[in-house]
Amino acid sequence: MNPAERIADLRARIRHHEERYFVLASPEISDAEFDALMRELQALEHQHPDLVTPDSPTRRVGGRPAEGFATVEHVVPLLSLDNTYSEDELRSFDDRVRRGLAEPPARPIPYVTELKIDGLSIALTYEDGVLVRGVTRGDGVRGEDVTANVRTIRAIPLSLRRDHRPTPTGAIEVRGEVYLPRQAFERLNREREEHDAPLFANPRNAAAGAMRNLDPGAAARRGLSAYIYQLVARGDEPWPTHAETLEALQAWGLPIEPNWRRCAGMDEVIDYCREWAEGRQALAFDTDGVVVKVDSLVWRERLGATSKFPRWATAFKFPAQQATTRLLRIEVNVGRTGAVTPYAVLEPVRLSGSTIQMATLHNEQEVARRDIRPGDFVVVEKGGDVIPKIVMPVLGRREPDLAPWVMPTTCPACGSWLHRPEGEVVWRCLNTACPAKVRRSIEHFASRRAMNIDGLGEAVIDQLVTRELVRDAADLYRLTADQIEALERMGQKSAAKLIAQIEHSKTSDLSRLLYGLGIRHVGERGAAALARTFGSIDALLAASRDDVERVPDIGPVVASTLRAYLDEPGNRGLIDRLRAAGVNMTTAQPAPSFVEGSAAGGSALQGKTFVLTGTLAGTSREEATAAIEARGGKVSGSVSRKTSFVVAGDEPGSKLEKARELGVPILDEEAFRQLIMER
Ligand code: IVH
Repeated sequence: MNPAERIADLRARIRHHEERYFVLASPEISDAEFDALMRELQALEHQHPDLVTPDSPTRRVGGRPAEGFATVEHVVPLLSLDNTYSEDELRSFDDRVRRGLAEPPARPIPYVTELKIDGLSIALTYEDGVLVRGVTRGDGVRGEDVTANVRTIRAIPLSLRRDHRPTPTGAIEVRGEVYLPRQAFERLNREREEHDAPLFANPRNAAAGAMRNLDPGAAARRGLSAYIYQLVARGDEPWPTHAETLEALQAWGLPIEPNWRRCAGMDEVIDYCREWAEGRQALAFDTDGVVVKVDSLVWRERLGATSKFPRWATAFKFPAQQATTRLLRIEVNVGRTGAVTPYAVLEPVRLSGSTIQMATLHNEQEVARRDIRPGDFVVVEKGGDVIPKIVMPVLGRREPDLAPWVMPTTCPACGSWLHRPEGEVVWRCLNTACPAKVRRSIEHFASRRAMNIDGLGEAVIDQLVTRELVRDAADLYRLTADQIEALERMGQKSAAKLIAQIEHSKTSDLSRLLYGLGIRHVGERGAAALARTFGSIDALLAASRDDVERVPDIGPVVASTLRAYLDEPGNRGLIDRLRAAGVNMTTAQPAPSFVEGSAAGGSALQGKTFVLTGTLAGTSREEATAAIEARGGKVSGSVSRKTSFVVAGDEPGSKLEKARELGVPILDEEAFRQLIMER
C-alpha cells in the first residue's frame, strides 16, 4: 500500500471505530488499539502534509475564530414546535392533521415518534459528504457559526459514508440536537464543585456553555454528543417517508437516537408517550417529551407550516414530575465540615415510580424566603435523578396560625452552639468531636475515591462511633478483629476482611490521604496537585501559604483553608497519629522542585506547567500530556502567569496570544521535543 492508500485506509477504519464507539455505543477494539491507528495516521500525515484533508479524523480540534462567532443566515429557518400536554390534545392534533389534508385518509395517519432531546439545536451542512459548517439555532433566522466546536463532537462524522444509495452529494443540511450525556454532566459538576466554581443547573446549560466557548479544546473536553433528527428537504429524496429519511441518515453514519418508532396511528403514538414518560429516567440523556411527526413527506409538504411551527409535528411534553404532599417537619443534617442544613420530612408520596419522603431545603434563608412552614402542603418535584425538591407551599391550603420554622441554635448531634460566619448563609457546628461530624468524616475518609476501605459503610461506622470505638480516622487503625466482630451483623469472616482492608489502606497514596482528610475546598484534583508538588506531608506541613498558592490548580481560598487546617493543633495531632499507625505519607510520584528551587537530579520538567495549543504533527495531545506528566510536569487548559511553557502546534488558538501577552515562554514542536528528550 502506498502512503495515500494507507492514509485512506486508516481514515476509513478510524471513522468506522468512531461510529462504533460514539454513535452505536458498541466498540469493537480497545482504546489502545484505536489510539494506535490514530497515531499512525498522524505520523503519516506529518510526513505527507499534502495529503491532509479537512475531514481527516486528526483534524477535529483546529483553530478558532479570532473575534467571537460569525453569524450565518439559515437557508431554511429553524422553526420551533407546537406543544401538546395531554392525550386529548394529541387527539386534537391528529384531527387537525386530517383536516389539513385535502383528501383525509379513512385509515389512521402513520406517524413517527422520537424522543425530544433536551439540548440545543444545531444545523450541519455537508458538501459532497464533507462537514463544512455547524450553526446554532440563534433566533431561527440567523445563528452562530460554531463549526470548530461541532468538529470536536465525535458522534458527528466529519465525512459521510458513501456505501448507501443514494450517496450524499451536493449540499445537504441536517439538523439535530447537541447534548451533554448525564454522566458527563455529573462529572463536570463534581469537578466544578471541587474548584468552588458555580454548578450548572442542568445538562442543557452546560452543553450550551460548551458550544459557545471560543476555545474548541474546552468544548472537546466537556464530552458533548449529538443526535440528528431531520434532513432539510431538497425535494429530490427518492423515499416517501420520514422513517426512511432516518434510516438513510443512519446509513450515512449520522447519530440517530435509536428509540424512534413508526406508529400506525394516534393510539400507538399515545402508547409510546406513556411508555417513555416512565422509561425516560433510564436514558443516558435528558428528555422532556416526545416529538410526533407525520411520516409521509408528501403530506408534510401539503400541511406546511405557520410562521412559527410546522403543522405536521407536535411536541408532547411529559407531565411534570410533581406531586403534592404534607410537610411533616423540618429536620437538620450535620455534614462532614459541620455545615448544618435543613431538610424536609414529607408524608410519603408516589412520584414517577418511586416513593418520596424527603427533600432538600438548602439553608435557613431559603426556607424563610420561600415561606415554607412545617405542616404546609407542598408541591414536590423530581428533576432527572437528583434528590427531590420543594417547588412551593400551597398557600391556599395553609391552616391559620401555622408558625414559621425556626433554625435550631444548637447542634442536634452534640448540643454545641452553632456559628455562622459573617456573610455566609450556612450555620456550622464547630465541635471537632461532634459525633455527626465524626461519622461523616469517617465515611468520607473510607470512601472509594479517598482511602477506599471496602466494607466500612454507614451502618458499621455508625456503630463504631456510637460505641466510642472511633473518634477520628486514626482510631480505625487501632481496631481489633474482636471489636469489629462484636458489632451487629458482623461475622468472623467479614471482620477479618474489614481489618485486612483497613490495613491495606495504609499504603494509599498521599493524594488519597489528603483528599480523605476532608479539608474544606480540597477536592480530588486539588489533593492530587498538592501531592504531586510536595511529595510528602512533611514538605506540605513546612510549606508557606504562598508556596501552596503557587501550585497550579490551587487558588488563594484553598491555600488559606489548607494552611489554617494544617496549623490547627487538633489536625496536626490527627496527622501524627495516622503516621504512627503506619499510614503512608508520601506520593509514589516524587516532585518537589519549583517550590524549593530545582531539585538536584530532578527532571527539567519537574513541577512545570504546560499549556498545549494547536495540533502537534508528530504526536497526539494525549501522548504529549503523558510525556510531560511522566517527567513530573503538569498540563493545564488555560494560560496564566503560573504557566511555565506554552507549546504551540499548527493553527494555535488564543492561548498563544495570551502567552505572548503575559510573557510566558513559547515552545514550538521541535523545541518541545528536545526538552522531552533531555530527560
Ligand atoms: S423536530 C420544525 N425532533 O425541540 C422543527 N426537534 O421545541 C423540527 N428537538 O428546536 C424539530 N429533539 O431543537 C425535532 N427529535 C426531535 C427533537 C427536536 C429535540 C428540539 C429542537 C427544536 C425544539 C422545539
